[in-house]
Amino acid sequence: MCGIVGYIGEQQAAPVLLDGLAKLEYRGYDSAGMAVCDNGEIRMVKATGRLKVLEALTKGGSTLPGTAGIGHTRWATHGSPTDTNAHPHFNGSASIAVVHNGIIENYQKLKRKLESRGYHFVSETDTEVIAHLLDRYYTGSPLEAITKVMHRMEGSYALGIIFQDHPDEIYAVRKDSPLIVGKSSAGNLIASDVPAILKYTRSVYFMENEEIAKLTRDDITFYNIDEEELEKEPTEISWDLSAAEKGGYDYFMMKEIYEQPKAITDTISPRIRDGKIVIEELGMTDEEIAQISKIYIVACGSAYHAGVTGKYVLEGMARIPVEVDLASEFRYRNPILDEQTLVIVISQSGETADSLAALREAKAKGSRILGIVNVVGSSIAREADNVFYTWAGPEISVATTKAYSTQLAALYLLAMKFSNVRGTITNEELTSMIEQLQQLPRQIEFLLGSHDRIQKFANRFLAADHIFFIGRGLDYAISLEGSLKLKEISYIHSEAYAAGELKHGTISLIEDGTPVVAVLTQEELYRKTISNIQEVRTRGAFVMTVTNANHTDVEKNADFVMYLPETNSYFTNSLAVIPLQLFAYYVALGRGLDVDKPRNLAKSVTVE
Ligand code: F6R
Repeated sequence: MCGIVGYIGEQQAAPVLLDGLAKLEYRGYDSAGMAVCDNGEIRMVKATGRLKVLEALTKGGSTLPGTAGIGHTRWATHGSPTDTNAHPHFNGSASIAVVHNGIIENYQKLKRKLESRGYHFVSETDTEVIAHLLDRYYTGSPLEAITKVMHRMEGSYALGIIFQDHPDEIYAVRKDSPLIVGKSSAGNLIASDVPAILKYTRSVYFMENEEIAKLTRDDITFYNIDEEELEKEPTEISWDLSAAEKGGYDYFMMKEIYEQPKAITDTISPRIRDGKIVIEELGMTDEEIAQISKIYIVACGSAYHAGVTGKYVLEGMARIPVEVDLASEFRYRNPILDEQTLVIVISQSGETADSLAALREAKAKGSRILGIVNVVGSSIAREADNVFYTWAGPEISVATTKAYSTQLAALYLLAMKFSNVRGTITNEELTSMIEQLQQLPRQIEFLLGSHDRIQKFANRFLAADHIFFIGRGLDYAISLEGSLKLKEISYIHSEAYAAGELKHGTISLIEDGTPVVAVLTQEELYRKTISNIQEVRTRGAFVMTVTNANHTDVEKNADFVMYLPETNSYFTNSLAVIPLQLFAYYVALGRGLDVDKPRNLAKSVTVE
């Protein structure tokens, strides 16, 4: 939920830290702070609000001299967003400073023990416990103190630590929260994510659980929790900084919407070879695929919505029973799983706490776990038996767009592969589907060309209080995503309903002028949904429809129509999502909101 950075080198640390934090603001943005070692003293500045407050307070970092320091951008979990609760946190004598991402689950117990020994706490955070615990065990060796503290903490943590007595060192520690270390000619760095350090280096070490890194100006040493030195190899990052910057768009969300054709192409093309679907990373023989008795898809938020689409596609095409579950439900409901069950965990960040816990639950029950993950080297990617990477590249905007679209593409590829192996589609059908799949990027580009029309239409709903989305089958699955996209960034209340369910209660909410977005891409359900549209229109609803290009007759029943190019009926959600994303974006923009950073949300939900 938070972003951490650290720097030690020849340059002034504070501007480097601010630079890195700006790339991590997507991880949290309710307060920020830095601590820098200078002339044997640690100086700290922190401030509630966006990073620009901290920038202004330190005049771009110039008022905080020193060449070694740590920084943090926060998304509050324990304690409200205040200056006192902002990181870094200190021990009583301000000789040890800590920044933390994660949650210390036993912090109350530790806090009580420390208080009984005379330690005084100033903040409401769990992190402050770490600073005091380090103080308690520090007798001159930072490494020894850190490992002792690690043995006492339960929960997740990525830490950046500096000790006043060791001004030429910074320490990084990781357990269940992401942390990377970068080596550059300008100095060495730590960060929660690659974009924060890409300006300085492409050579990155991914820290594993319970590892510690000691960084000096020209050296990096890794240790395990037993203080034994470790050998680690750096990874060369192949994508560049422009991929993590706005590139001329007003918001990352728009940039990422426009990146969807490329993201889908990058995800599907390595897996199509000589007219066949080849997913080597699946690690399953044809025999094992034939033996799958059931699939569970487990995820949160939009990734869950991708899973709902996946259910319709996998069941329809491969005839394998599929259950889709919210990870936060799945993990506590003692699901019935066995070795023939395939559990697919979908996650952009690969760090979502509930999805990770669901993965562990399923693994403990002996099921094979396939991760569909975007962030390389993330926790879910590392713990799954096999990983299908979606090649969406870094997604910065809190509301997912391109990662969601690549999740759909990944699920289509899996369904096609399974269907082909299990004989539920013919080779001819597979060939035609591959062609249709390969056309999706171009069709999405065509749809993006309608952005002006959608913006004009969206501007009519800036003052709406409620907006409903309806559809049946796959159209219901995409309605869920359209509704979430709208509500999370525009703050307009919105709900998605299976169209046939309306008259079981919800229709009583429809009144004169209520906006309803209806999706009708499934030919066999078209007439049914038209009847539902007529029911809401009779009660005064203002209707936008998203439908196939051959259904011009829909205009009799709608106030605004978005037509989709023709594709395979299993792939329509990849097209229908485009006008829905643009609609949500323009409504939020028209309402003057910060599209990329909706209130109360963070990009990576690493707590339960
Ligand atoms: C909505 C959104 C969230 C995420 C959810 C899961 O736009 O982005 O609903 O889909 O928090 O996150 P990941 O995919 O990182 O597990």
